[in-house]
Amino acid sequence: MTDLRTLPKAELHLHIEGTLEPELAFSLARRNGVLLPFADIDDLRARYDFTDLQSFLDLYYSCMTALRTARDFEELAVAYLERAAAEGVRHVEMFFDPQVHAANGVPVDVVIDGLRAGLRTAADRFDMTGGLIVCIVRDQPVTSAEALLDEIAPRAHEILGIGLDSAEVGYPPSLFEGVFRRAAELGLHRVAHAGEEGPAAYVWEALRELEVERVDHGIRSVDDPDLIAHLAEHRVPLTVCPLSNVRLRAVPDLAAHPLRRLVEAGVVVTINSDDPSYFGGYIGDNYAAVASLGFDTTELAQLAENSIEASFADAARKAALIAEIRAWAASA
Ligand code: HPA
Ligand code: ZN
Repeated sequence: MTDLRTLPKAELHLHIEGTLEPELAFSLARRNGVLLPFADIDDLRARYDFTDLQSFLDLYYSCMTALRTARDFEELAVAYLERAAAEGVRHVEMFFDPQVHAANGVPVDVVIDGLRAGLRTAADRFDMTGGLIVCIVRDQPVTSAEALLDEIAPRAHEILGIGLDSAEVGYPPSLFEGVFRRAAELGLHRVAHAGEEGPAAYVWEALRELEVERVDHGIRSVDDPDLIAHLAEHRVPLTVCPLSNVRLRAVPDLAAHPLRRLVEAGVVVTINSDDPSYFGGYIGDNYAAVASLGFDTTELAQLAENSIEASFADAARKAALIAEIRAWAASA
């Protein structure tokens, strides 16, 4: 098998806080005088045994208390971007959760400043492009999401889009229709997590009521043939995260993952790592997992092309990256 780390690709479903490795969490906590509720790095890692989305989110939000300053966010981003560049990532659209940081006393401007500094470093050092997607934490009140939009409105030009994450079941996309309408008026792209643990009906809601351009996860779409046909016909991309789905038990095991069915139905599927520090693999490991399901080099290159098509990069950048992928496939 050819080296999939050299396959040029975009990462479109990546929570930057989910790249926080235990070593960095403890070193930032020490620097910031924050006491993490874990004895040490081994104790923290021993808790990476999740039973569902919520069991992960509890640990994830707890580790996020270590992040306090713009420098912290810049270091976090650069650590991820360096690793991603080494795994062939040429463009990245990065989620972050400002409402969680605000609860830790960190203003959204601090987070944006730090992450943008990290992206600038990656542009200079690795010729990477990308941007930020502000995620609405859906299990917090809608009024909190509205207040966040007010705060970021003056900086909307520095942000690529709006997303929706956190605990899914019981928090349908329709709750955030007004928030997403306002985001669209600010010129932001729209994406949402739907159909990870929640039903296919949530994917329909995200499409119809939030008017999303991509669906994050979306794997439960396989339960609804009309939805699959709709996604394929309208070329609405899904940002699929195979190792995440296994670790959060959204699928029983990798072999049971609906990826092959989605691809065969003609859906524009992309491969991503979600929260790689927590889920046992960065993007290269996710492509390797897909290869282990029997996807050949041509199919893997097509998945990488899908990631470029599904991105919010400009047309010239997309054309350049697709040319890179085709050159890779021709020599593979
Ligand atoms: N789902 C929902 N919320 C999240 C995730 C996820 O996979 N990762 C980080 N926040
Ligand atoms: Zn996610």
